[in-house]
Amino acid sequence: MCGIVGFIGHVDAKEILLTGLERLEYRGYDSAGIALFDQDAVHVFKDKGRIANLRSVVDPQVKGTVGMGHTRWATHGKPTQRNAHPHQSSTGRFTLVHNGVIENEIELRETYLSDYAFQSDTDTEVIVALIEKLALTHDLATAIQCLIEKLHGSYALGIIDHEQPDVLYAVKNKSPLLLGKGETFQMMGSDAMAMLHCTDQLIEIHDKEYVRIEKERLTIYDATGQVVNRTPFVAQIDATEIEKGTYAHYMLKEIDEQPVVMRRLIDTYFKAGQIDIDDAILATVEQAKRMYIIAAGTSMHAGWIGKQLLEGTGTPTEVHIASEFVYNTPIITEGALFIFLSQSGETADSRAVLVKMKALGYPCLTLTNVAGSTLSREADHTLLLHAGPEIAVASTKAYTATVAVLAILATRLAGESDFNLAHELAVVATVMESLIADKEMYSQLARTYLTAHHAFYIGRHVDYYTALEAALKLKEISYIQAEGFAAGELKHGTIALIEDQTPVIGIISQAAVHLNTRSNLKEVEARGAKTLTISFKSLSLASDQVIIDDVHPLLAPLITCIPTQLLAYYGALHRQLDIDKPRNLAKSVTVE
Ligand code: M6R
Repeated sequence: MCGIVGFIGHVDAKEILLTGLERLEYRGYDSAGIALFDQDAVHVFKDKGRIANLRSVVDPQVKGTVGMGHTRWATHGKPTQRNAHPHQSSTGRFTLVHNGVIENEIELRETYLSDYAFQSDTDTEVIVALIEKLALTHDLATAIQCLIEKLHGSYALGIIDHEQPDVLYAVKNKSPLLLGKGETFQMMGSDAMAMLHCTDQLIEIHDKEYVRIEKERLTIYDATGQVVNRTPFVAQIDATEIEKGTYAHYMLKEIDEQPVVMRRLIDTYFKAGQIDIDDAILATVEQAKRMYIIAAGTSMHAGWIGKQLLEGTGTPTEVHIASEFVYNTPIITEGALFIFLSQSGETADSRAVLVKMKALGYPCLTLTNVAGSTLSREADHTLLLHAGPEIAVASTKAYTATVAVLAILATRLAGESDFNLAHELAVVATVMESLIADKEMYSQLARTYLTAHHAFYIGRHVDYYTALEAALKLKEISYIQAEGFAAGELKHGTIALIEDQTPVIGIISQAAVHLNTRSNLKEVEARGAKTLTISFKSLSLASDQVIIDDVHPLLAPLITCIPTQLLAYYGALHRQLDIDKPRNLAKSVTVE
């Protein structure tokens, strides 16, 4: 979702900001803008669409050593030039960028700004108008403290005050924002990616804090104006890992990286053949009487597989949609442990649950791909996914890494057994390699089978969860109306949708239910469906289109998802869609 980058130093900020915005593109956006302060005036350039459009409207003659950039993912108002950030106050004194949603914007408009002439449809303009009003009667530090008191909702803000040419301000509540420290410059950014081209020295900002950013120093204040001292940390991202290389799309690169990720997880989480998980994490997990997995989207699908794995150890485990759990909280059993699954570690829905559960005193563990992310920092414990930066909006390698880390956790929890997980994961890596080597086949299958505007994935047992994930992958990048169903549920309603040539893709990896799923495929074939079967070799028929070498049945989801990722990729490619940045979607969903 919205991305922010800010810079103050001794060189022109223009290219630094534009590069930072390009690095934030993966988060998803529909308009972009920058503001450059050249000591006399603040120049704002913005446009709808991609950064390339923005580049074409930026005046190359304008230079400024202070500036802010923004990518906007529309919430209030259409993605137009008028609604794009930065926004300026009516006198032009303040220029502001914002990521988040102001929940009480209507009340603020009515109470304080009834005579203000708004230029846009955004909630952001309310903030810039309000700070201007507050600054009429207060010094800016006090005005910002009043602003924090009055705003309800989520916000990461960058502010330029025309009366202070050598200062940039940052304010944060709920939405992600980090500071970047240099010797002769300072930065702010929604995440490390926005700043890595200049610095890897980062500093956290906590909720309701604000920061005065000058060329040589950063000063953090709490909401009451007290100075807060905080030590920088080094970003754990290798900037070269975010390059696309020779790949046409990040998604394909990330699909291909999955065997490497599996091997990296073996190296990281196994020592001398034994699972090596931090003692404190283990103690927390072992004490749990019931686990609550909280996640969204693809991470939630990984959670369903995690439930299967964790319940194998005897601990009841529930899976919840984060956005539902927080405002419709079920009865929580004594001895609860909350496990948050989040590739980005920034998902606002999950974070809302984390904040609430922490306040209630429950232990919280986050599985995330991003060290130092909000969900990692705020939980008691973190297990990292080690998947490397995932840039494509459609999650692939982080999904399989989440499932693998859950398998590692569950196996460690189960204690002594003959199950050699390191060996089984190595087999998974090898089978993944053989599957991704056969890309042309998936391209052809996508051409043959993904011809309609709709498609169904069906499966039973863990194959059902894979069906859910496969359908999400297909719909988010190919815009095909895809649904995942428990194969046995078809007859209870959905089968009414099957007509001549409806694509139905069956997933078969579990011996106990494979015949049942085959019967369900026959039932839809009898009604005209065009079926495609993805099956384990030991359960396959010669007529199956995709036959996969067997892996341990508990780890089947790590393998069966690969053909479905490739089908989604080629389905979208054949439709000539923007695979890495599908319409309306954001990589980091930082608003509730
Ligand atoms: O970063 P998170 O794992 O918390 O994100 C959750 C979902 O937004 C995410 O998995 C989304 O569903 C993916 N785009 C799916 O590919």
